[in-house]
Amino acid sequence: MTITRTAIVTGAARGIGAAVAKRLAADGFAVAVADLDEAAGKPVVEEIENAGGRALAVGVDVGDEPAVRAAVERIAGELGEPTVLVNNAGIIRDNLLFKMTADDWDAVMNVHLRGSFLMARAVQGYMVKAGWGRIVNLSSTSALGNRGQANYAAAKAGLQGFTKTLAIELGKFGVTVNAVAPGFIETDMTAATAERIGVSFEQLKKDTVARIPVARTGLPADIAHAVAFFVSEGAGFVSGQVLYVAGGPTV
Ligand code: NAI
Repeated sequence: MTITRTAIVTGAARGIGAAVAKRLAADGFAVAVADLDEAAGKPVVEEIENAGGRALAVGVDVGDEPAVRAAVERIAGELGEPTVLVNNAGIIRDNLLFKMTADDWDAVMNVHLRGSFLMARAVQGYMVKAGWGRIVNLSSTSALGNRGQANYAAAKAGLQGFTKTLAIELGKFGVTVNAVAPGFIETDMTAATAERIGVSFEQLKKDTVARIPVARTGLPADIAHAVAFFVSEGAGFVSGQVLYVAGGPTV
């Protein structure tokens, strides 16, 4: 008998998270499609179910401690005890330092850092109990520094330290913790960046491709593939790593 493992993907209603949810479902996981709005996750759940998989849409703000606790308990009861967590939920509040408000700073820290911390803390007990677990955190090439993103870069670099520390703490329980750091991926997030800097999305993609060695932009499925590797059974000796998925070396 093969056991069905349960995975939680945050920010899974669209973009990279939706692609990760669909990929993990195709790989045999029951998947909680967690996002701010439960209704927004339903189309992803339907797609997974139509393809023969199992999924559940769950509304949760990852920065809200009681909401996180309740969502994880609900997932454990309705879908199965979670042993895979992909911390993908994210926002941007870009601005140059002199124009960045404290609210812009706090909002980004709240979702990426506090959210990943609260989610990981809420699921780790199930992983330890199972003697098996996989946590994948979404970092970014912005962790290496990116104009207009002091808050986001700090959060994404912070997630790398978080990843390595959890890898050290949880390794002896069969839990691996890794990070995927995407480069430019075509999603609503990068479309919003184009709007903010006042160019069309097509123009931004064209300008970006010129700097990417594999000469194309990334797609959500590119990131889902990397996450699927870290989550796989065979990746049990890979922990505390940051995999840049950016179409080339990044430094
Ligand atoms: P997106 O903006 O298309 O989707 C993000 C999702 O997260 C949305 O569905 C949103 O509702 C959800 N979300 C936001 N705040 C939340 C909260 N407090 N609780 C629960 N859900 C919340 O973004 P995209 O592009 O799919 O990015 C996914 C992750 O990948 C993010 O962590 C992002 O920072 C990271 N990333 C994206 C890159 C890109 O080029 N698109 C590059 C590097 C990293």
